[in-house]
Amino acid sequence: MAHQSTLIADDIEAYLKAHEVKSLLRFLTCGSVDDGKSTLIGRLLYDSKMIFEDQMAALEADSKRIGTQGGEIDFALLVDGLAAEREQGITIDVAYRFFSTDRRKFIVADTPGHEQYTRNMVTGASTADAAVILIDARKGVLTQSRRHSYLVNLLGIRHVVLAINKMDLVDWSEDRFKEIVAEYRAFADQIGIREFTAIPMSALRGDNITEPSARLAWYKGPPLLRWLEEAPLEDDLREKPFRMPVQWVNRPDLDFRGFSGFVAAGSVRPGDRLKVLPSGRESTVARIVTMDGDLPRAVAGQSITLTLKDEIDVSRGDILAAADAPPGVADQFETTLVWFDDEPMIPGRPYLMKLGARTVSARVNEPKYKINVNTLEHLAATRLELNEIGVCNLTLDAAIAFDPYVETKDLGGFILIDRLSNRTVGAGMLHFALRRSQNIHWQALDVDKPARSGQKGQKARVVWLTGLSGAGKSTIANLLEKRLYAAGRHTYLLDGDNVRHGLNKDLGFTEEDRVENIRRVAEVSRLMVDAGLIVLVSFISPFRSERAMARGLLNEGEFIEVFIDTPLLEAEKRDVKGLYKKARAGELKNFTGIDSPYEAPEQPEIRIDTTLLSAEEAAERIFAALAE
Ligand code: ADX
Repeated sequence: MAHQSTLIADDIEAYLKAHEVKSLLRFLTCGSVDDGKSTLIGRLLYDSKMIFEDQMAALEADSKRIGTQGGEIDFALLVDGLAAEREQGITIDVAYRFFSTDRRKFIVADTPGHEQYTRNMVTGASTADAAVILIDARKGVLTQSRRHSYLVNLLGIRHVVLAINKMDLVDWSEDRFKEIVAEYRAFADQIGIREFTAIPMSALRGDNITEPSARLAWYKGPPLLRWLEEAPLEDDLREKPFRMPVQWVNRPDLDFRGFSGFVAAGSVRPGDRLKVLPSGRESTVARIVTMDGDLPRAVAGQSITLTLKDEIDVSRGDILAAADAPPGVADQFETTLVWFDDEPMIPGRPYLMKLGARTVSARVNEPKYKINVNTLEHLAATRLELNEIGVCNLTLDAAIAFDPYVETKDLGGFILIDRLSNRTVGAGMLHFALRRSQNIHWQALDVDKPARSGQKGQKARVVWLTGLSGAGKSTIANLLEKRLYAAGRHTYLLDGDNVRHGLNKDLGFTEEDRVENIRRVAEVSRLMVDAGLIVLVSFISPFRSERAMARGLLNEGEFIEVFIDTPLLEAEKRDVKGLYKKARAGELKNFTGIDSPYEAPEQPEIRIDTTLLSAEEAAERIFAALAE
């Protein structure tokens, strides 16, 4: 059996040449194994002859041994087998498979159906031109099909095939096919999918995959592979204004300075006027440099290095854009956010946002609503859990250049990363910039932090005491302030219980409220440091992430984290306010250490073991450390 294209055998050069100029379609398959997804992909690989002889032999043997098709070839085994082969040792969420026909090359993103479907789909779909949504003809449009369709549309995939599979199990019935199409159309209208192509097929029997099927003679449209060969590519990307995120600044010697990146949209020629964002500076393209010499023109999809006629400041993460149609620059946005992580998204918590080649710190506001993707209902939400989708405003620490996602995916699509674990926790799409962010500017002030702290003859900073309730934070902070005061220092003590009587009166003890509690105190302490004060903060501040955020608001050396380390047993034994007793009796919910977590600092500047030191000794030790 010959499983390679005859061209490979006859004329390998011609084969490779033809391969190079063929267009590439990336598509996504959505559905679960039960829908016949593996069988479908296996069939495509087989029919396009992308299976090697040894794989074929193994497949025949396995089909006889463990196949579910009575000794006939079980294509699902092929795909699942390939997956297992790739997964050795690592878990991959999305498998990319390559195949080609005489007309086109294809990359299929095969996303597992059940578990973590949202994350996998978003990952697989971010670069897809088309989507194949699988439907089991016996079952029709399921909740899961709706969910997949909703995500496909949300991610901006405009070419959709409704692959109505297993037609052999419904007697090749045209009525059943029509019934499913009508049902799907009603749903598609609702979510804004304007067009889709429904194709009846049997992946198992090979009907309507590569060739039209006699058993489905009533169907006049293209078989799946023909549709895939003819689906229009997102080539209008080249017609859009030029965009290139700068991946790195290439400076091998003093005479050459190039900016390298991937053209995300549009095209560029030497002589074009470009704008650098967010700075807004302009220059003209001198050369388009590649490994194979200079180019007269580069288009979306190419990786290039540009040189400019003027020596202007361009850094990694900047965007080079057409000067007459630049992207927007802003630091607050409305977005749709898809949450990937087991830990929920908590409003106010700082994450890292990566968009293009830029990474900035970002906070998500409380969701405006979350979306039930099965019913499309908008629901109230205070957080987003794993696989949930919500519309939320986002606030960044610095302004970035962007396009709305619907215009340029690469400049409007972003991911959020957990600052501590480095996990990708979510992905989102920018809708538009909030106008308020564009109307508020920084006011330059002449009397600044060095002036204010200089006048007081001290180095302004924050001494941040964290620890369990009853650990002794307030007692130690109070003694420390007295000591500093006596030494002529200008101080202020922010104490959790006290601040919660005023500024933070509206907050309770849920995770969300604690995050907001610390966010406000961190901002206040930043202002106080700016005023030149030594600020003592005494809050449980149970989460690492928010303490890291507070640290991030200040300069190096201005944030001194002091861990008041009292074991839970000890704090509970002291129980000065009687709160542990109440918490144990179930009268007080979300109590730190009992039914709400405390994340101890990993590398505090100072650690105080209160089982070894008295409060006075602790205060003295911190005072001495500050004096150093
Ligand atoms: S934090 O977790 O948000 O940083 P914060 O330091 O402001 O807490 O407030 C803690 C104080 O609130 C405790 O010292 C205690 O007196 C009181 N309190 C009341 N309910 C709780 C609770 N559920 N968990 C912890 N502290 C509580």
